[in-house]
Amino acid sequence: MPGDKSISHRAVILNSIATGKARVSHFLAGADCLSTIACMRAMGVTIHNGHSLVVEGRGLHGLLEPETVLDAENSGTTMRLLMGILAAQPFFAVISGDGSLRRRPMDRVIQPLRLMGANLHGRQSDTRPPLAITGGDLRAIHYTLPVASAQLKSALLLAGLYASGQTTLVEASPTRDHTERMLRSMGANISTYESEKGQLCITLEPPIALNSVDLEVPGDLSSAAYWLVAAAIHPNARLTLEGVGVNPTRTGVLDVLRAMGAKLTLGRERLEGGEPVADITIESSQLKGTDIEGALVPRSIDDIPVLAVAAAVASGTTTIRDASELRVKESDRIASLARELGKLGARVEELPDGLVIYGGATLKGADCSSYGDHRLAMALAVAGLVARGTTTLDDEAVVAVSYPGFWQDLERVAA
Ligand code: S3P
Repeated sequence: MPGDKSISHRAVILNSIATGKARVSHFLAGADCLSTIACMRAMGVTIHNGHSLVVEGRGLHGLLEPETVLDAENSGTTMRLLMGILAAQPFFAVISGDGSLRRRPMDRVIQPLRLMGANLHGRQSDTRPPLAITGGDLRAIHYTLPVASAQLKSALLLAGLYASGQTTLVEASPTRDHTERMLRSMGANISTYESEKGQLCITLEPPIALNSVDLEVPGDLSSAAYWLVAAAIHPNARLTLEGVGVNPTRTGVLDVLRAMGAKLTLGRERLEGGEPVADITIESSQLKGTDIEGALVPRSIDDIPVLAVAAAVASGTTTIRDASELRVKESDRIASLARELGKLGARVEELPDGLVIYGGATLKGADCSSYGDHRLAMALAVAGLVARGTTTLDDEAVVAVSYPGFWQDLERVAA
């Protein structure tokens, strides 16, 4: 599997502000992570992108003012994580992105950063990119995250590295914790505990310096998810995906597939660079409908498009709720899934915060749109694998955002 996208972003960003040189192997050379590299280079960081990636850290206070607009392109992670860093730098920066990213909400990050004393402005009353950021001194906050977003949490932790005092963040629903794990491995004093109300609290002391870390990026479970679903819904399949990250904050997709009756086993479970990794084997399964809601949603957020495909061919009904975040991803994934799965013959109803999918459909090939959204394109490709007749997609190149080798891997799997 290609390297994990979330961990690849963090390996570049955190090593850029660490002390020392870091070698990152199995880095995901997807368009999103290349945007992060370009932004860090624009702030003076030397990054060699060869067989493995080498990042020459400039230390916490070594970044330079970018001469031009930083371009996060399609990448929400690049923009939101860099907002946290830029808010604390002694210089001015503007960050923007493509049409999709410029429509996505940034006020969720701007507001708490302002509470820390940051100076950020954006389009549409400080809610949308481009963003103009004049960095400066920050103070720590104690903040309850109003949305379950690892991008927001990570932005505030990165700002907290530079703030005076201890930053405390409270999460109602736990989100991916790759930033916390990597910061800890770099020597930062970061700890987590459960509050009396059962909420997860994260505290961070600003470090004097971070130590760079060499790491091998695990395979991306959200890329593996396409093949897990493809194998489960295919009548005659068995696949083993090796070296996939199975961090418990990400394994909602495995829990959902197991609840649907998928024949799924984990082998060679191990810890690599502070992240759990395993080989996953899956075979043809008789899937049944399930409910995806509550804490399961942030743990499977990127995998819901392909899980919706599994639900369309499973027996029984699947209800997805508490997932309004899907409306503000690379596309409005609730609307786009309802529409495109409907074209393929699935019975799908839109909810404000999710979908009801009446399973048991025999999918028929159709002309589909990916809405410029990589995860929608790949989910529809999996649907096309089991649909009768030909499925076409309007934009096959969009998969490069997170999975440049997707079509080649599809050929290998489909053989
Ligand atoms: C990501 C967090 C998620 C996810 C995105 C990557 C990250 O976004 O959808 O693909 O690397 O932190 P939110 O945290 O905004 O839900």
